[in-house]
Amino acid sequence: MQTIISPSLLSADFTNLKADIEMVNKSEADWFHLDIMDGVFVPNISYGLPVVQQINKIAEKPLDVHLMIVDPDRYVEAFQKAGADYLTVHYEACTHLHRTIQNIKQHGMKAGVSLNPHTSVSVLEDIIQDLDLVLLMSVNPGFGGQSFIENTYKKVTQLKQMITGQNANTIIEVDGGVNLNTGKKLLEAGADALVAGSFVFGANNPTETISNLKNL
Ligand code: DX5
Ligand code: ZN
Repeated sequence: MQTIISPSLLSADFTNLKADIEMVNKSEADWFHLDIMDGVFVPNISYGLPVVQQINKIAEKPLDVHLMIVDPDRYVEAFQKAGADYLTVHYEACTHLHRTIQNIKQHGMKAGVSLNPHTSVSVLEDIIQDLDLVLLMSVNPGFGGQSFIENTYKKVTQLKQMITGQNANTIIEVDGGVNLNTGKKLLEAGADALVAGSFVFGANNPTETISNLKNL
């Protein structure tokens, strides 16, 4: 399977977002990664539903929405209406994770769970079969441009073993500090999808950078 590339618009130019969306539309990227931060689950606030709705009007690829918010159940329907295709919630933010995942699926979206760097993949053993995607954080969520946490490679390998062992059909996506070097090692460990923010939008040639990640 070819690597799924999901550029994170967090590092895009918000004074000219349309240009960056059109760049992604024309590139070899597969999804748009949208980071929603509430200032409670993470120390930062990003952007919310009205911005997602506007992005959805011109984005020609699936919206991969990463919710870094407490009590995400309150917003499942709203993000579905705003155009989310993949909706990922944090394990650490959900008391009744199984219920939340069913809720996302009942709203017609693909369901993902994200794990913070300190959370072991073993907590997913009893829910992996229900998940379309696991998003492993390779930085502490909240900001772009942080450096990659090396322990993530081991987590990718462990997660891959769990997915294969249970015959599950779950995408392994990694988010934070992804570049050509970390990206290559993540793919070798078993990752299927790479999120990249500052590496793509901070590059002199973002289109070429996406292509380089896609063809690692
Ligand atoms: C961090 C976000 C990431 C962020 C990644 O909380 O979840 O998606 O945009 O940024 P880079 O690729 O710059 O580490
Ligand atoms: Zn993210």
